[in-house]
Amino acid sequence: MDTKKLLSKLTLDQKIAQMSQFNLVLLRPDADGGVTGPAQKMELTREIIDSVGSTLNVKDAASTIEAQKEHLEHDPNKIPLLFMHDIIHGCHTIYPIPLGMGATFDPALMEECCSMAAKEASAMGIHVTFGPMVDLARDCRWGRCMETTGEDPYLNCLMSAAQVRGFQGNLDKEHVAACVKHYACYGGAEAGRDYNTVDMSEHTLREYYLPAYKAAVDAGVEMLMTSFNLLNGVPSSGNKYLVKGILRDEWGFNGVVISDYNAFREMEKHGYCADGKECAEKALNATSDIEMMSNCYIKYLKELVEEGKVSEKQIDEAVLRILDLKDKLGLFKDPYRGASEKKCKKLFLSRPHRALCRTAAAKSAVLLKNDGVLPLGGEEKTIALIGPFAKKGMIGAWSAYGKEDEAVSVFDGIKKAAAKGTRLSYAQGCDGAIRAGTDESEISKAVRLAKRSEAVILCLGEDRAQSGEGCSRANVALPAPQLELLRKVCAVNDKVVCVIFNGRPLDLSAVVEVCPAVFTMWQPGTEGGNAAADLIFGKADFEGKLPMSFPRFVGQAPIYYNRNNTGRPAGDNMDAAYSSRYQDCPTSPLFPFGFGLSYTSFAYSPVTLSKSEMSENDTVVASVTVTNTGKRQGTETVQLYIRDRFASLVRPVRELKGFEKITLDPGESKTVNFDISASTLAFYGASGEFKAEKGEFLIYATSDSQSGEPVSLWLK
Ligand code: BGC
Repeated sequence: MDTKKLLSKLTLDQKIAQMSQFNLVLLRPDADGGVTGPAQKMELTREIIDSVGSTLNVKDAASTIEAQKEHLEHDPNKIPLLFMHDIIHGCHTIYPIPLGMGATFDPALMEECCSMAAKEASAMGIHVTFGPMVDLARDCRWGRCMETTGEDPYLNCLMSAAQVRGFQGNLDKEHVAACVKHYACYGGAEAGRDYNTVDMSEHTLREYYLPAYKAAVDAGVEMLMTSFNLLNGVPSSGNKYLVKGILRDEWGFNGVVISDYNAFREMEKHGYCADGKECAEKALNATSDIEMMSNCYIKYLKELVEEGKVSEKQIDEAVLRILDLKDKLGLFKDPYRGASEKKCKKLFLSRPHRALCRTAAAKSAVLLKNDGVLPLGGEEKTIALIGPFAKKGMIGAWSAYGKEDEAVSVFDGIKKAAAKGTRLSYAQGCDGAIRAGTDESEISKAVRLAKRSEAVILCLGEDRAQSGEGCSRANVALPAPQLELLRKVCAVNDKVVCVIFNGRPLDLSAVVEVCPAVFTMWQPGTEGGNAAADLIFGKADFEGKLPMSFPRFVGQAPIYYNRNNTGRPAGDNMDAAYSSRYQDCPTSPLFPFGFGLSYTSFAYSPVTLSKSEMSENDTVVASVTVTNTGKRQGTETVQLYIRDRFASLVRPVRELKGFEKITLDPGESKTVNFDISASTLAFYGASGEFKAEKGEFLIYATSDSQSGEPVSLWLK
């Protein structure tokens, strides 16, 4: 399609309509063709509706096909609509939340899961997913930690690119365009409170927060969504420096930029724009192409052109990007792009999709403590399943078309997998809500069951409504009723396995204190219960590693491994006066980034270097030999960390620079080699240049972000 020629045929109003996105329900005129209700309130006219460019939140393939058909009948230029939706961790078949996928340390698996989601979504007629979400998250109070792959820029970059590849493939009819979000630094919200202000130095921005968006751009992402937050006083949708400056001019991104939901209008609430008209002006000057669910563009852009405050050329550039995306997706040739109810039926919850979700869920689980209780041997005659989440399908927030009642609960998974003759019993014990009250009779019932059972599987944590957008928490410990249930159950049974569901790092101090075996399953998705059973009975081993540090207490937040040292480090010494400490809590996390146990154990040799000095053009190989010292096969994620001892800008105490997953049989050893070049050692220094500075570097090859003995490497 000659999109330039098409553009030249559009009136200014029609161009502006292309730049607007509304929910499909707003785009349905009444039976007599009039516009009433919410659409009228939004000041949509029949003309705008007829030539609007895109819509979000479709219901199913049939209604998508119908809406496209209807649109093409009315659009004077016959330009197909773009259908967008949040396909974040699955479409109908749901895999673990992105934070869980982060724990797999397996970008190839992430790619496969996204590709599966794209297949289901495209069958529904969805053309663009509002993913990947790659906001770096350091604060466990933030509910949207669940949508990220965690606190580390290196891991996030790999996962960001993997998601783009998986969703987009070659953009054929089985894939969708990806939209990386929320640009930028949405995860840096002060105090972890959603939508809150973000303030950070240029160094922190470039070193930690921007790389994952850039990785998506480098992987060829077609779209980008700006965020709700202020960054250093400027809302992202109107942030010319961020969007026009860094994204387009520096990184060369020429794809479509969309706002977040109503975010143009929110620039007024922020106090950045006097009115909707200024919102439109600032957004266009920042090169934002599509306005989602507010009406500043359709109401004011024409006026702004007439007043000479913005140019029609700017509008043309935006519309051309939108038309080009429609063309790349093949919509001018086939506006339905293979959408079909039949295909959906075949794909949704299909056997291969379920199998992939089961594998991903097992690989995402992280074993935090095991005092010999796990795996259950199958000889237990009676097992009690207790807790508010034992009989629930745990699919997590942003689970698109996934349904809780189609997902396998832990109870159902255990029931299927338990040895013949095992008697299962169940008690909810308490309500799972954050502000739930305690019902002593429910707790007593659970305790009675625990007492007379040989083993207990206790399912605690949070469910889909407790993390996600708008779900910040000031306290990340388990709610009081869950804590009481935990303590009372653990007091009467010494074979308790605690399965934690969570969309963020929780404070699990009380749990590990009283419970002999604890693992986190995040929000595992459709096959969660089967994966839990695979792990509990030892059919699968644990191999997940934490993608975020878990605090001992919420007051430590934000807590992350790649922090700077102070001039008065105290370690965990709470008595070290006039040092960087808490008087009532160690400074270290309860579980550090990169941590995770397995059913076997691994021994690490000291790390060695091929040479201890290097020049800027050299490559040094760091090697470590890992041995499986346990009794069964296991998979370990060997992690390479560096520390730049002194530099023009202080460098963090550790930085992840590589990892490799290896599977070893009992007694087997393997040597893992990591290449270190000047780019491994580089950072955004005081001059703003990405460059390695000469001096000493400590090199660790180890099993998490706190362990291991380093060797020195000198860059001469
Ligand atoms: C969220 C975005 C999402 C959009 C559309 C917003 O509230 O912040 O992540 O893509 O809604 O559903």
